Amino acid sequence: TVEEPAPLPPLGWNSWNTFYCNIDEQMVRQTADAMVSSGMAAAGYQYVVVDDCWMQDTRDASGNLRARTDRFPSGMKALGDYIHGKGLKFGIYHAPREKTCNQYFANLPGTSSYGRETQDANLFASWGVDYVKHDWCDPRGSASEQATVFRRFGDALKATGRPIVYSINPNSAHSNTAPTYSGWGAFSDMWRTSEDLSASWSTGCSPSADCFVGITEALDIVEPMREWTRPGQYNDPDMLMVGVRNALTATENRAHLSMWAMLSAPLIAGNDLRNMSADVRTVLTNRDVLAIDQDPLVRQADRVRDDGDAEVWAKPLADGSVAVALLNRGSGTRQISTTLGQVGLGSGTHQYREVWTGATGTTTGQITAQVAQHGVALFRVTPSGTTPPPPTGSTLVSASSG
Ligand code: GLA
Repeated sequence: TVEEPAPLPPLGWNSWNTFYCNIDEQMVRQTADAMVSSGMAAAGYQYVVVDDCWMQDTRDASGNLRARTDRFPSGMKALGDYIHGKGLKFGIYHAPREKTCNQYFANLPGTSSYGRETQDANLFASWGVDYVKHDWCDPRGSASEQATVFRRFGDALKATGRPIVYSINPNSAHSNTAPTYSGWGAFSDMWRTSEDLSASWSTGCSPSADCFVGITEALDIVEPMREWTRPGQYNDPDMLMVGVRNALTATENRAHLSMWAMLSAPLIAGNDLRNMSADVRTVLTNRDVLAIDQDPLVRQADRVRDDGDAEVWAKPLADGSVAVALLNRGSGTRQISTTLGQVGLGSGTHQYREVWTGATGTTTGQITAQVAQHGVALFRVTPSGTTPPPPTGSTLVSASSG
């Protein structure tokens, strides 16, 4: 049996959100360098994933996929070696239908993984691939048809003997609608739960429509899939938009990363790591937030309160703490409150730490914050029988965020 490749949600980077098809080996190498020099690798980010547009539109005489020589003249094995030389892991994109998702490759049946599963998986393993994103890219195809096809490639990856994270995008089976299939985790490590995430708080896309989603729509879609997340099996609300084209505000960046951590989602950065502002780097490498995402209990947070634009999410952690997110989806600053009971904690004194402000203190009851528009206050709340109760009148925890 092959070692579980992703006992915790994968942390990494993917080329698509910033570069689309404008990728080449120099940019990917520079990104690997930047992942190390920025401190992201030290914070836990590992995978450098080359998305769509790396491959030629035909196979070679032996039927093997090959990289575009104009973009990857040294080949993918050399790229993998470079990434491994930095102490990082190498990911690649593939698709099982007639085409990859990009129009450039429209109707090129030659590159499809379908019927070539073993050959392609073996090739990837020989290149040192550690992560495969397998993208359905077809508006047709039932969940069960996709499950059959995706499983076949997953089995081929396992048969290589190399631990390879298997990330799938069953597009036509989610189309932003309510979950209809719960079986993806039986043969993949992570599966997309909605259409592509756009770099916006909200696109106004209605859950039944097939359109790009904003952060809040992605949250609403993944929320009912909570039970599917467990060690080695992750709901994937899509790659991060933190710092991508600076489209999100600093407050939105923090809220976006906070909520993906609350979901135990894979954290796959999508920004240009080579040109990252100090602010964006500070958000992406916040150790307290990453620890919530990487918590070994691997539970997706439950939305325990939904008052329109004010929401409370709670995520149990392995040490008996609970991560509590007070989320302000609407405009204007608002005060959001919850109680220890509402987030699943008992009575008595609890310590808290708000991970963005660093505010610490104790509470025996309420957890409250002034939360900026499109912001979050994210607390790690820990039971403490030994800490003396706070002075009278100070059971109200207060931290501002924004
Ligand atoms: C789909 C996926 C994206 C990206 C593109 C590549 O849209 O959802 O994440 O991989 O294809 O073409």
